Amino acid sequence: MSKVWKIGVAGLGTVGGGLIKFLAERPDFAPVGDRAVVTGVSARSRSRPRDFDISGFAWFDDPVQLARSPDTDIFVELVGGSDGPAKASVEAALSMGKPVVTANKALIAEHGAELAALAEANNAPLLFEAAVMGGTPAVKMLREAMVGDDVVSVAGILNGTCNYILTEMESRERAFADVLSEAQAKGYAEADPTMDIGGFDAAHKICILAALAFGGAPNYPAAEIEGVDGVDLIDIRFARELGYRIRLTASAELGEGGVSVRVHPALAPLAHPLSQTVGATNALFIQGVRIPRIFIQGPGAGEGPTAAACCADIADIMTGAVRPVFQKPATQLKAPGAVDASHRQARAYLRLMVKDEAGVLAAVTETLAEEGVSIDSFLQKPVEDEAWTPIVLTTHETVETKIIAAAKRLEALPQVLEKPRLFRIVRA
Ligand SMILES: NC(=O)c1ccc[n+]([C@@H]2O[C@H](COP(=O)([O-])OP(=O)(O)OC[C@H]3O[C@@H](n4cnc5c(N)ncnc54)[C@H](OP(=O)(O)O)[C@@H]3O)[C@@H](O)[C@H]2O)c1
Repeated sequence: MSKVWKIGVAGLGTVGGGLIKFLAERPDFAPVGDRAVVTGVSARSRSRPRDFDISGFAWFDDPVQLARSPDTDIFVELVGGSDGPAKASVEAALSMGKPVVTANKALIAEHGAELAALAEANNAPLLFEAAVMGGTPAVKMLREAMVGDDVVSVAGILNGTCNYILTEMESRERAFADVLSEAQAKGYAEADPTMDIGGFDAAHKICILAALAFGGAPNYPAAEIEGVDGVDLIDIRFARELGYRIRLTASAELGEGGVSVRVHPALAPLAHPLSQTVGATNALFIQGVRIPRIFIQGPGAGEGPTAAACCADIADIMTGAVRPVFQKPATQLKAPGAVDASHRQARAYLRLMVKDEAGVLAAVTETLAEEGVSIDSFLQKPVEDEAWTPIVLTTHETVETKIIAAAKRLEALPQVLEKPRLFRIVRA
């Protein structure tokens, strides 16, 4: 017999609104034949105008009370934030053994292990498909479809706002600050864009994928994070001249001693799928031992895709399937160790702003040679009427720490005017 599941939705913004609108039209969307009906909602303001009707739902000022309500069978947390009401309400639902669906990557990346323990102790599913790549099913792919393989790495573009900014900078020849303020005015970027442009949002997502890929706990404090705020238009132009596009890449890779989780701008060859990923689209490579390479690409945000992802989780709950939140029972989850960085190899792009005077090139090449970094290509474009000039070079593949040490020494040269820009180059 088909069952009606009573859904409590906390958070009525982009994702919550999308979910409510969809379930109003298609409560019977799930293939199992059950129905999902919203019964209670919570948000900050009850009177705020919204483009959907909430008058038929029970209202809760506090998401914790909604989670505890006897009329909530499945609690959907769409408030956001790693702590506060989001965490308190998810804990309240899980403690009572209620299934939880959330789109909150900050919560899962920062508290995933303890929430998994609570969920499993209470036999309550905790699902978060919408938290990574919006409607593009990266979480399910790693959690379910890849369990027959041993994943070696996951890497891609996980923040649509940054990709939109980088794409616009390139196609419209506009400075970072201009594109960012336009994106904020159009609602593509948050009023406080720190989480996106600082790389923290992508870091939350890649930590979740790393946990699913390698069977550990999400280890956000160990992620190495660099945002796009250090990318200037001049770098985008130089990159293009050298045959690359700059992308904010997020990667998690098995290495000696553990897992390396990183977010940073990188140059991808023009024909590479990451270069071809434009605008707010997300993309991900998954590399396994038996399945060598999978590439998925799709929306990473927006009310339609995220609502669809939440519904996929709701449908899973209806089937009664129970599996660990990550790839191992929570009692066995450990944060993976850090990789020994001295073994990491990379090619890099290095831009220096130098005084336009004799002897500069010799000083730069000597410093690189002394650090054991060999130059692959070199570009110099004198700027008219300026006392400085940009020098751009790419390196051959070298131990990454040597490139970093060389950049530090170059910064200290009297002819170098500012901190060199150093971006890694994606392998073709
Ligand atoms: N937007 C996307 O495309 C997207 C994609 C993937 C994942 N996510 C994640 O999904 C979650 C929701 O994102 P969103 O974009 O929908 O956010 P949003 O548009 O800013 O909406 C947040 C909602 O939470 C409510 N809220 C805030 N503080 C509250 C509190 N103390 N108690 C009760 N309700 C509170 C707000 O109430 P009011 O409406 O009354 O202000 C609002 O309805 C976040 O974790 C986000 O990272 C979003």
